[in-house]
Amino acid sequence: MRRRPVLVVNFGSQYVQLIARRIRELGVYSEIVYWDEVLEAVEEKDPFGLVFSGGPASVYQEGAPLPDKAVYKKGVPILGICYGLQVIAHQLGGKVERAERHEYGRAKLRILRRDPLFEGLPEEFDVWMSHADRVVDLPEGFETVASSENSTHAVIRNREGTVYGIQFHPEVAHTSYGREILANFIFRICRSDRNWEMGSFVDEKIAEIRETVGESKVIAAVSGGVDSTVASLLVHRAVGDQIRCFFIDHGLLRLGEREEVEINLRSLGLPLKVVDASREFLERLKGVEDPEEKRRIIGNTFVEVFEREARKIDGTEFLLQGTLYPDVVESAGIKGAAKIKTHHNVGGLPERMNLKVLEPLRDLFKDEVREIGKILGVPKEILTRHPFPGPGLAIRILGEVTKEDLDILRRADHIFIQELKRWGIYEKIWQAFAVLLPIRTVGVMGDVRTYEKVVALRAVESTDGMTADWFRFPPEFLDHVMRRIINEVEGVNRVVYDISSKPPSTIEWE
Ligand code: XMP
Repeated sequence: MRRRPVLVVNFGSQYVQLIARRIRELGVYSEIVYWDEVLEAVEEKDPFGLVFSGGPASVYQEGAPLPDKAVYKKGVPILGICYGLQVIAHQLGGKVERAERHEYGRAKLRILRRDPLFEGLPEEFDVWMSHADRVVDLPEGFETVASSENSTHAVIRNREGTVYGIQFHPEVAHTSYGREILANFIFRICRSDRNWEMGSFVDEKIAEIRETVGESKVIAAVSGGVDSTVASLLVHRAVGDQIRCFFIDHGLLRLGEREEVEINLRSLGLPLKVVDASREFLERLKGVEDPEEKRRIIGNTFVEVFEREARKIDGTEFLLQGTLYPDVVESAGIKGAAKIKTHHNVGGLPERMNLKVLEPLRDLFKDEVREIGKILGVPKEILTRHPFPGPGLAIRILGEVTKEDLDILRRADHIFIQELKRWGIYEKIWQAFAVLLPIRTVGVMGDVRTYEKVVALRAVESTDGMTADWFRFPPEFLDHVMRRIINEVEGVNRVVYDISSKPPSTIEWE
């Protein structure tokens, strides 16, 4: 199903995805394209409008990202944000230079003339600025609509009212009326249709899956997390029991997780097979200490076990994957970025088994998947569940993974999560877990010297897992969890809290 989008043109801003999400929240489908693909994208997708993102470059530098100038002749409305404004000014004959005074943070915007972009807004309000360059001369045929103290040309437009540039960031929460400004651009200037609503997306997706799959079978590896559950449910609604879901227990799960996932997924009516492969995994992990080696072994074993199971089903043509839109744009985006960790998934399987990949969530952001989950009746525990890495507890036991250590970690982790829920903190956190360190320290319990293991607690706030900050707990909470873990988990005599952010650390310890 083709929808006309508003295209967000990526010039390297950290806010690109946020802009696209904001537009979708307003009910208009949006997609992200790179600056050097914009002309083809305009021809192919017939967008309602373009939003040029910000970016770290300076337009006057050698090699700065600039779109093909022909894009201005296409008659598609354009809104340039920050660097995007400077791109417009620079390419159409104005002048951009380094400002004497940089402008970071809050600034007061003064509207100088009535304009559809600011329809319904006051004459003065606060906006969020972050720039070192500024527009000093406007291109021919442009006029200034608003100013701030340090930016005379904080908002500019062409006389026809089709091309706009704004120096501030409407997508961030610190800008008052940011949502209204984007809405004015999208509806008053681009005249976009409202074409993005989760309820109708679900109906269309189900029809599309039915048509694609026909009479074939679909196999899915499910984890009990929101993505694989929602993807499986969509397919189940479309083709019923032609989908077969496999939950592979690799022995690296949390306390009670297998049972919980089984109950949750069955209650949703999904045809599920639980495969206990824990002995196989633990056997292969014996003596292995290196994190990447562990990840590789787990990934390969997972694919092997899944393949073995899947081959038992005749007529399978599709492999279901819970790929999301950020994965799609990111994998296209990080050109040559350093590999930090090997993420495990069922990569390689489609080729080996000659399967087609079905990715019903590849247009969606995470919160949209949650919204669909809600529409499909997915229980709240699944929708709010913290992310859990494919290699499971193996990357939270530093060094060799043993059954004994798995038991210790499971119990400590369970106490931590249980208390987070009891104190009503769980849902404020992106991800929380316990880590077992491969060292022992001295302690004293009931006048007796102990020499036992250390548990580290990790809890982070994040919006996408790409960056993260440690969660500020009330000290009483940490105290309570520490006490319970040391009292109840045999083999642990010390608890520490990890206060590293990402970067420079990562969320998981391995
Ligand atoms: P890091 O540790 O790289 O983690 O900061 C970022 C997010 O990714 C999760 N993670 C994984 N997820 N397979 C997964 O499915 C993996 O191999 C894997 N490694 C890390 C991590 O839990 C966090 O949410």
